[in-house]
Amino acid sequence: SSEMLTMQQQQQIVNVAHRGASGHAPENTLSAFDKALEMKADYIEIDVQMTQDGELVVIHDTTVDRTTNGTGAVGDYTLNEIQQLDAGSWFGEEFAGERIPTFEEIIDRYRGKIGILIELKSPEQYPGVEEKVAEALIKRNMHKPNNSKIILQSFNHESVQRSKELLPNIPHGVLAGLTWADITDEQLAQFATYADYFNPNMNIVTDELVDRVHFAGMKIFPYTVRAQEQADNLFKLGVDGIVTDFPEYVYKHPVKK
Ligand code: G3P
Ligand code: CA
Repeated sequence: SSEMLTMQQQQQIVNVAHRGASGHAPENTLSAFDKALEMKADYIEIDVQMTQDGELVVIHDTTVDRTTNGTGAVGDYTLNEIQQLDAGSWFGEEFAGERIPTFEEIIDRYRGKIGILIELKSPEQYPGVEEKVAEALIKRNMHKPNNSKIILQSFNHESVQRSKELLPNIPHGVLAGLTWADITDEQLAQFATYADYFNPNMNIVTDELVDRVHFAGMKIFPYTVRAQEQADNLFKLGVDGIVTDFPEYVYKHPVKK
C-alpha cells in the first residue's frame, strides 16, 4: 500500500491535543487548550482529579510538584488553595499566573468549540469522581446522544464501566499501557461491551492490532505522539486518531498529490 495518505484520509484522522497543545504551552491550562483550539485540533484531552473539598480539577500528576510552584497531593488541597498555585511558570516565564482549571470551567469554556476527551485520572483515589463528572455533564444537558463531542476514558477500566452506566449515551474509551501488548480478541470483545474506543500506548500498535480493534467494533486513538515520524507511522497503520502534544503533526504528514 502507498506510504502517502490521500487528502480524505488526512482529514479523517482525529487530532487530539494531549493536555491541550502541551508542546507549545503548559499542559492542562487555558493557554494550552486555547492553543489547541487556535490550531484547529478536533479534541482537547484533559485529566480530571478531585480536591480535598470534592471539586473537580484539571491536572495530570497526582501531586502538584512537577507542574506548579507548590508541593503535595492534589487531594490534600482545597479548591481555593490549589488555585493559588502558579501552573505556568515551570513551562516558561511568559505563562506565569496560569491556574489549575476546574473541570466545569473547561467544559463551559470549550463545549461546542472543540471536542473534549475527558480522562478520569487515578479515580481509585477519588471515590465518587464518576458521579461528579456525570452530574456536571447532565446539569448542562451534555449527556444526550450526539449532543456534543465528549468522550470519557480511563486506565481504570472499572471506573470506565461505572461511568458508562451513569452516562450510557456518551462514548467511552479504555486506556491501555504497555502491559496490554498481547491483548486477546476475547479481551477486546469484553472491552467493546462498554467502550467505543481502545486507546493504547503507541508502542504496542501494529497494523494487526488496529484491524482487531476495528473488528471488535471500536476506534483506536494511540498516545502520546511527540515526533512527526511517530505520527506518520501511526497514520500508515490505519489508526483513527492520535493523541499528541503537537497538533500540527496531523497537517504535516505526506499527502498524495
Ligand atoms: O489520552 C491518553 C493519555 O493522556 C494517557 O496518558 O499519562 O498522558 O495521561 P497520560
Ligand atoms: Ca491523560
